[in-house]
Amino acid sequence: MTKTVKEHLVKSLASGQFISGQLLGEQLGISRTAIAKHIKVLTEIGLDIYSVTGKGYKLAQPLYLLEKDKIISLLADEKNPQAEKQSDLPLIEVHSLIDSTNDYLMRRLPNQVTSGQVCLAEYQSAGRGRRGRQWISPFGSQIYLSMYWYLEQGLSGAMGLSLLTALAVSDAVKAHSNVQVQLKWPNDIYLDGVKLAGILIDLEGQALEPSHCVIGIGLNLHMPVDAGKLIEQKWTDLQSHSKVKIDRNGLSAQLISCLRKRLQQHQQVGLVPMLEEWHAHDAFLNKRVKLITGERVTHGICRGVNNQGALLLEVDGQVKPVYGGEVSLR
Ligand code: BTN
Repeated sequence: MTKTVKEHLVKSLASGQFISGQLLGEQLGISRTAIAKHIKVLTEIGLDIYSVTGKGYKLAQPLYLLEKDKIISLLADEKNPQAEKQSDLPLIEVHSLIDSTNDYLMRRLPNQVTSGQVCLAEYQSAGRGRRGRQWISPFGSQIYLSMYWYLEQGLSGAMGLSLLTALAVSDAVKAHSNVQVQLKWPNDIYLDGVKLAGILIDLEGQALEPSHCVIGIGLNLHMPVDAGKLIEQKWTDLQSHSKVKIDRNGLSAQLISCLRKRLQQHQQVGLVPMLEEWHAHDAFLNKRVKLITGERVTHGICRGVNNQGALLLEVDGQVKPVYGGEVSLR
């Protein structure tokens, strides 16, 4: 995908005004036929663009795009919001179209990233979920956010990352929309028993040597009907549960701020002080569940998580830590 051309087209059309193919071609130094081809791709990924002879292209509805400057100005409660503007590296990037925000940051390891750096996108052509699943990523209506974090102590403490990230999502959603979510070990965010958001963590490094981590969050805000039909798991979106209109820039800023705070807390004092909060939001605490690990199915009762972030599963009266697998209600 030639990203810059399409980014320009998206931004030019966002206001919902007509703009001619001729003018767009002149701005970008390409032919009207080339513009038409790019517009076709944009309609294929879900943008509702139509054309009228003599007037040009127009979006059926104006777009409320993510805006980097707005997000930065909203990070007001960060210790040093100016750092975003002064850094040599772009600490927050917003892309119209990308393959995957996680992959984008992973490709920049180790020298083109700085701890806390964020990549957001309006659309992902290859959004990834856990266990090799696809993360359906329709344009301009959800949040796809990835943050790079440097792990000075190595990968040994990585287990806690998904738990603290889930807590950060919970903090941000509560602060922005006053909606209370539940957390499903290790890294799903539920609302009324249905999935609202997912977390994907990519790691690179060694157990006890400085390592790298990219934390990806996909949060459903306003799922378009067509995209929703493509999702296999049951899902919900935040707008259906919120009394306030969700502002994607505002919620993105909250997410960045809450995630950085939780990561710093983890770096300073570890996971243990967060466990009480995690248990207060645990969707499956003391519930009968089914754990699937590869081909193996185990039935038990969830007894929370331990100090390392492993699930505590009671089977036949014995509580044992579980380090991986998929849990669901029985
Ligand atoms: C899951 O529940 O399976 C995890 C979903 C994670 C999706 C997010 S969207 C932003 C980031 N980029 C990706 O390709 N995946 C994560």
